[in-house]
Amino acid sequence: MDALRIERLDGPFGAAVLDVDLRELDEPLAAALRAAWLEHHVLAFPGQHLGPAELVRAARAFGPIGDDPFLGAMAEHAPVVELVREADEATPLFADVWHSDWSFLDPPPAGTMLHGVEIPPVGGDTLFADQHAGYDALPADLKARIDDLVGIHSARRGYARDGLYDDRDAGRAMAILPSDDALATQRHPLVRRHPETGRPALFCSLAYTIGIEGMDDDESLALLVELLSHATAPEHVLRLRWAPDTVVLWDNRSVLHAATGGYEGHRRVLHRLTIAER
Ligand SMILES: [Fe+2]
Repeated sequence: MDALRIERLDGPFGAAVLDVDLRELDEPLAAALRAAWLEHHVLAFPGQHLGPAELVRAARAFGPIGDDPFLGAMAEHAPVVELVREADEATPLFADVWHSDWSFLDPPPAGTMLHGVEIPPVGGDTLFADQHAGYDALPADLKARIDDLVGIHSARRGYARDGLYDDRDAGRAMAILPSDDALATQRHPLVRRHPETGRPALFCSLAYTIGIEGMDDDESLALLVELLSHATAPEHVLRLRWAPDTVVLWDNRSVLHAATGGYEGHRRVLHRLTIAER
């Protein structure tokens, strides 16, 4: 196998992988890409002409396909989820709060793969924040305060029947499926060791971390806000600009991410898969 052609993205981390066709992954190439993924946390693959079934095959090279609770899969192409926003859609933006995908699961998904199918000419960048760097840069006293703390994660704010995406969320093109399952909670350390690299990372968000064990709501919210101000500081953030046919793969154990808007009047479609731990 030839050496991978990798170019750093314009940010503190992340890389573009050039000259790879994700329809033609063999084992040595998949292993090299997986190593690059662990190193760079976010990989962009420009120029990928993939149908949904080919996206599933490509994702499987990085791990088993994970669950996507609360999102309806494409009828003809499950488990692929279509993230679609119509040009005239007026609903609040989906997923614009910093989060790690489905962090309320146990174990949470290792990664997420998105394929840009219809990409507006402006806006819609995805932001990523390096949670290893975010942790490393914390003041020593704050590190000592949080090293043994446990976050309580839940999908309830978004996906419970009375959550963000309940009946009042009318006119949304993508299929969001609120459910009582969203009331479940899961404990994860606030400082989580990456299961494959062993590197410590902050693992919390205002989207899914609903509390911290042993703290009341005010105290845990204040600490989460303080941690996230470090974790999402500009020096740790990559702004990823999409192009049609780009596939992006990120490591939910290493980064938080957030959607951005700014493409009113344009339709935007991405195909998504979640990748579970191996
Ligand atoms: Fe997400």
